Amino acid sequence: MNVSTWQTIYECAEKWIFEAGELLKQSFTEKRTITYKSNFSDLVTDMDKKVEKFFIGKINETFPEHKILGEEGFGDEVTNADGVVWIVDPIDGTTNFVNQQFNFAISVGIYENGEGKIGFIYDVVRGELFHCMKGKGAYLNEKKLPALENTSLNEAVIGINATWVRPNTRIDHHRLIPIVKNARGTRSYGSAALELAYVACGRLDAYITMRLSPWDFAAGIILIDEVGGIVTTASGDEINVLDKNSIFAAKPGLHESILKEILR
Ligand code: IPD
Ligand code: CA
Ligand code: CA
Repeated sequence: MNVSTWQTIYECAEKWIFEAGELLKQSFTEKRTITYKSNFSDLVTDMDKKVEKFFIGKINETFPEHKILGEEGFGDEVTNADGVVWIVDPIDGTTNFVNQQFNFAISVGIYENGEGKIGFIYDVVRGELFHCMKGKGAYLNEKKLPALENTSLNEAVIGINATWVRPNTRIDHHRLIPIVKNARGTRSYGSAALELAYVACGRLDAYITMRLSPWDFAAGIILIDEVGGIVTTASGDEINVLDKNSIFAAKPGLHESILKEILR
């Protein structure tokens, strides 16, 4: 596809994200309908569904040949990465949306034949839009984000959820203790998309989590790549963008040292 087509896709995505953000802001005064998915902490609201359907309607109308992978399942059954695929998380951080009305984001990653092309993560309440088009740099609103530079673990602030530092089925939690012990600090925001955006803009030096779905990381990994950060699975393998993965995102150098000295 040529450059002007990608520019059109970019502009449409940006416009729809702002419109979806308005829907979410307006919803704050209404009573929410909350249902549970796999367990009592796995929430979905009427707004997750409404926003996903909003994107699907717009994308289908404007780019009928594109495929859509959405968390709430209203999109397509995407079985391969061929063509243009929009990967949409209508609300990343639904628990925060319900409990805090803060610290959640809309995440949209657009891929062509498996390659990340466009990433948008929109923190609706703070009015922070993280965005990028492959090869053109990453931005926080109008500000271009600088390339990430190495930092040492003892100067680093690491995004990690406490879940992974207690016994769990995904990793021997003892292996993560040196990260918590040796880092300057750890943080958990409850929105993987925001945590990845924070790695891209340097608020976090790294983020590690043992299980995310494509819609949680699709946009974030494009943003981080655009500023020279490294994203792999927690064992250092390449991410399969259509699968659940563990995710380890970090500044270059820091990624290598944590992987070599702690995770492997
Ligand atoms: C969740 C958030 C959370 C992460 C979970 C995700 P959701 O997404 O990103 O931070 O730890 O694994 O499922 O359900 O709020 O869209
Ligand atoms: Ca999510
Ligand atoms: Ca979600």
